[in-house]
Amino acid sequence: MALSFFSKNKKALVARCRDDYVTKMRLKYAPYYHAMEAQKGTTVRLDGREMIMLSSNDYLGLSFHPKVIEAGQAAMTKWGTSTNGARISNGSRAFHLELEEKLADFLGREACHIHAAGYLSCMSSVASFAQKGDIILADKNIHSCLWDGIRLSMATVERFSHNNPEDLRSVLAAINTDAAKMLVIEGVYSMEGHVARLPELTEIAEENGCFTVLDDAHGFGVLGRQGRGTVDHFGLNDKIDVLCGSMSKSLASVGGFVSGSSEVIEYLRTHSKQTTFSAAISPAQAACASASLDIMKSEPQHLERLWANTKKYRAILKNLGLDTWESETPAVPIVLGSKERVYPFWKALLDKGVFTVMSIAPAVPAGKDLIRTAISAMHTDEQLAKIADAMAYAVKKL
Ligand SMILES: Cc1ncc(COP(=O)(O)O)c(C=O)c1O
Repeated sequence: MALSFFSKNKKALVARCRDDYVTKMRLKYAPYYHAMEAQKGTTVRLDGREMIMLSSNDYLGLSFHPKVIEAGQAAMTKWGTSTNGARISNGSRAFHLELEEKLADFLGREACHIHAAGYLSCMSSVASFAQKGDIILADKNIHSCLWDGIRLSMATVERFSHNNPEDLRSVLAAINTDAAKMLVIEGVYSMEGHVARLPELTEIAEENGCFTVLDDAHGFGVLGRQGRGTVDHFGLNDKIDVLCGSMSKSLASVGGFVSGSSEVIEYLRTHSKQTTFSAAISPAQAACASASLDIMKSEPQHLERLWANTKKYRAILKNLGLDTWESETPAVPIVLGSKERVYPFWKALLDKGVFTVMSIAPAVPAGKDLIRTAISAMHTDEQLAKIADAMAYAVKKL
C-alpha cells in the first residue's frame, strides 16, 4: 500500500518535469547551456565559429596565465585529483590551511575557511550564523546563494530596496525589536555592477547592532588595493563581520571563501552543514586560486588593464545610447527592459561573434530584463573594436 502511494507521487513529479513550461521554452529557444568546443583566453569556439567571450567572470584574465596552469598541474601530480572527503573528517590537507592563511592575511582578517564552491561559502556565511527568531535584513537584489542561506537559517527576513540605506533605516525603524539582527549585502552586485553604499549601510548596521555579512564575489580582484575588494576600497574592514566570496571569478579557479574573526570562523567549522558534510576543495583548484592570489600581488598590470578595458567598453555602450544601469564596475548590464527586446539583441550579438548571457525576470527585477556582459583584462583592443561593431549591429536590430 505504502509503495503504490509512493510510486503515484513519483509519477506526479515526473509529469511535473516533463510538462514544465519554463524548461520547454528554454529548450525551444536554447539561450543557455551552450557548450563551447574550445577556449583560449577570451576567444571561444561555438558551433564551429570563433567568438569573443563577453560574459565570463574571469575579470583579471588569469585562467590562462602560465603560472596558474603550472600550479594546478603540479598540485594534481603531488596530491592527486580529489580530497575525497570533508575537511572535518579525512579531506583536510596542508595546502588548505596555507591558502586560508594567505587569503586571511590578504584580506586583513583573522581567519578564513575555503569551500569547493563560492555558492557553498556564501550560503554558509548566512545559514551558519543566523537562526530562528533572528531578523535578517537583506538587499532585495542579493544572489541566490544568499537567499538559500537565509531560507535555511529559518530566520525572519526583511527586504530593503536595492542599495538603499534610507530604506534600510526605515525598515529597521518599523521592526523595533531586540532580536539578533544580520545585514546581508554584496560588495559589487553581479547583475547590476553596482558598488554597495558601504559607508552608509555599515553605519546603520553599527547603530542597530547588526552582524554584517558581505558577499564580494564580484568586488574581489576588481576593487581595493591589489584587488582586495569592496571593503578595502572603502577602508571599512572592521565594520564587516563576515566577508565571503568566490574563487571562480578573479581567482581563476573554482571554490569559495568565508573570512572573519577566529571565533566566527571556528563557529562556522562547527555548525555549517555546507562545511562539515561536503568534500574539501580539490588540490588543483586550491593551487590555481593560490597562484592567482600571488599574481594579484606581484603583477598589477592585470588590474590596470581590467579598468582600462572597462573604461573603453563603457564608452562604446554610452556612444550607442545603451542603458547600463549605472554600472560602476567591469560587470556591465545592458538593460533592454523586456524579454522581447533581449532575445533579438542577444541573438544579433551571437550572429556577430560575441557571446553574452540573457537575464530575464524573475532573475532580474521586472522591467530590467538585460544582457549581462563582463569585461576581462584579457580582452584585446581588436576584440573591443569587434564588440563595438557587434553592439552597433544589435542596436539596429531592436
Ligand atoms: C554574488 C555571487 N555570490 C556567489 C556566487 C557563487 O559563486 P560560485 O559560482 O563560485 O559558486 C556567485 C556566482 O555567480 C555570485 O555572483
